[in-house]
Amino acid sequence: MKHRKNNNLSIFVVVFSIFLFGVFMYNEDVKSIAEFPFSSSTPKTQEKLEEQPNKQTNVNLVEEKLKNDKEGSAVTSRTSLEEPQVLSSDDAQETKEDEQKIELPVIEEDDDEEVELPPEECDLFTGQWVFDNETHPLYKEDQCEFLTAQVTCMRNGRKDSMYQNWRWQPRDCSLPKFKSRLLLEKLRNKRLMFVGDSLNRNQWESMICLVQSAVPRGRKSLNKTGSLAVFRIEDYNATVEFYWAPFLVRSNSDDPTMHSILNRIIMPESIDKHGVNWKNVDYLIFNTYIWWMNTFSMKILRGSFDDGDTEYDEIERPQGYARVLKTWSNWVDQNIDPNRTTVFFSSMSPLHIKSLDWENPDGVKCALETTPIMNTSMYLNVGTDRRLLVMAANVTKHMKVPVHFINITTLSEYRKDAHTSVYTIRQGKMLTPEQKADPATYADCIHWCLPGLPDTWNEFLYARIIRT
Ligand SMILES: *[C@@H]1O[C@H](CO)[C@@H](O)[C@H](O)[C@H]1NC(C)=O
Ligand SMILES: *[C@@H]1O[C@H](CO)[C@@H](O)[C@H](O)[C@H]1NC(C)=O
Ligand SMILES: *[C@@H]1O[C@H](CO)[C@@H](O)[C@H](O)[C@H]1NC(C)=O
Ligand SMILES: *[C@@H]1O[C@H](CO)[C@@H](O)[C@H](O)[C@H]1NC(C)=O
Ligand SMILES: *[C@@H]1O[C@H](CO)[C@@H](O)[C@H](O)[C@H]1NC(C)=O
Ligand SMILES: *[C@@H]1O[C@H](CO)[C@@H](O)[C@H](O)[C@H]1NC(C)=O
Ligand SMILES: *[C@@H]1O[C@H](CO)[C@@H](O)[C@H](O)[C@H]1NC(C)=O
Repeated sequence: MKHRKNNNLSIFVVVFSIFLFGVFMYNEDVKSIAEFPFSSSTPKTQEKLEEQPNKQTNVNLVEEKLKNDKEGSAVTSRTSLEEPQVLSSDDAQETKEDEQKIELPVIEEDDDEEVELPPEECDLFTGQWVFDNETHPLYKEDQCEFLTAQVTCMRNGRKDSMYQNWRWQPRDCSLPKFKSRLLLEKLRNKRLMFVGDSLNRNQWESMICLVQSAVPRGRKSLNKTGSLAVFRIEDYNATVEFYWAPFLVRSNSDDPTMHSILNRIIMPESIDKHGVNWKNVDYLIFNTYIWWMNTFSMKILRGSFDDGDTEYDEIERPQGYARVLKTWSNWVDQNIDPNRTTVFFSSMSPLHIKSLDWENPDGVKCALETTPIMNTSMYLNVGTDRRLLVMAANVTKHMKVPVHFINITTLSEYRKDAHTSVYTIRQGKMLTPEQKADPATYADCIHWCLPGLPDTWNEFLYARIIRT
């Protein structure tokens, strides 16, 4: 393993990490920090300098064979993971400014046309991307004033726009034609809420844009208060909400604005404090993934944050994930009335941080990619931890409350072209020209441009919601 022999580097990283911890405590995101996984089963309050444990056994658990076991497994942890960003006050301000500037046309739709539903049993997630600039994008970037600067890639300087023109074509059926009015009609007097990390927030922003075009100005509003952001559509008495809970259970990363804490600690059996905010919602969409990927292990608090406890144990990532899913599924089974509420779980949104994964030796992370991977028979491994995918698929299958598993992982793995890359913000500020010129350091290959891939994720929700 590369860094095992590199003790000097490890010491540097630890010292540097402690420095960064101080520096970034109050910042929004930490980029380009090479985090080395530490592992220990003894409780401790400080990072210990330890050798990278042999991950061979973990790797063997991964269902899909890794191209290069040790490399593949370590990449996820070693490569810098940018932390999810939150909506900053900058964004809010920008939204307000835009609101004053742009006059938006209300899109007219032919409401008489029947929308054809795919057969219930059709597997929507197996298929291919087809170029279709007639129907996609489903809305225009500059016609959705609610988009934050994090995702408006064109406005932020991206030149190619083909990433907006891909439609997901399931192999055995078709997704229903998207109609915002039809969706709004289904959401009348209802609440729809995304719960999870910044990828779910990415999808929430997309959902706002998908419905808002049918609503006139002044009849819609966005209110962000603490962990909850609520988009309200007056005439339909409907809301599209986002609740920040990157691990679903309680963690030291629950503050929606000050969550860039390197030393991530969770309380895997503690969910009620968040869950109380999820009651009386009609459509709930959960996810949790990206925050698990910085380290091989997960830190489990001994005791409670409420009592000021700081000691923790470390367990392997899959074990931690299993405990969280168990807590979450129990909560859903005990608190959700399936006659009222439809529950979804979104699978892992993949990263594209190593262009050799898709055999582009001239690539720089995802930064130079302008087309999806079209050859779906090509073996592809972009470092997704499929152990977690398999676990989530299995848990959601065995619950009392039916949960719709939205399997976005594989189809999104083809979309190396769809990330925000350098056309985004960092710590609330647009990347500078110098930073944009250095994608190896600054490209965000975690989040996605809008319009773009998350619109397709919402098409899956749409396909389900309009059935009800
Ligand atoms: C997810 O969908 C892909 C096809 O896109 C399929 O190959 C895979 O088996 C599915 N995974 C799960 C856990 O359902
Ligand atoms: C769609 O793409 C085709 C082929 O690139 C192009 O000729 C056509 O003008 C495009 N249509 C629209 C509406 O952008
Ligand atoms: C408006 O929506 C809320 C939340 O879904 C619901 O509880 C309430 O009954 C609705 N109001 C009316 C007048 O239907
Ligand atoms: C936003 O929501 C909070 C909490 O529900 C509420 O107290 C506040 O008045 C709302 N602000 C606006 C402008 O509607
Ligand atoms: C849901 O509705 C069905 C049929 O109306 C009823 O039999 C069942 O008890 C309800 N379930 C719950 C959890 O309320
Ligand atoms: C797709 O990938 C497979 C496996 O790598 C390869 O054999 C095949 O030639 C590729 N097809 C195309 C059209 O490039
Ligand atoms: C799937 O979940 C069931 C019920 O929770 C459990 O009994 C089973 O062992 C799990 N299977 C796998 C492959 O994880």
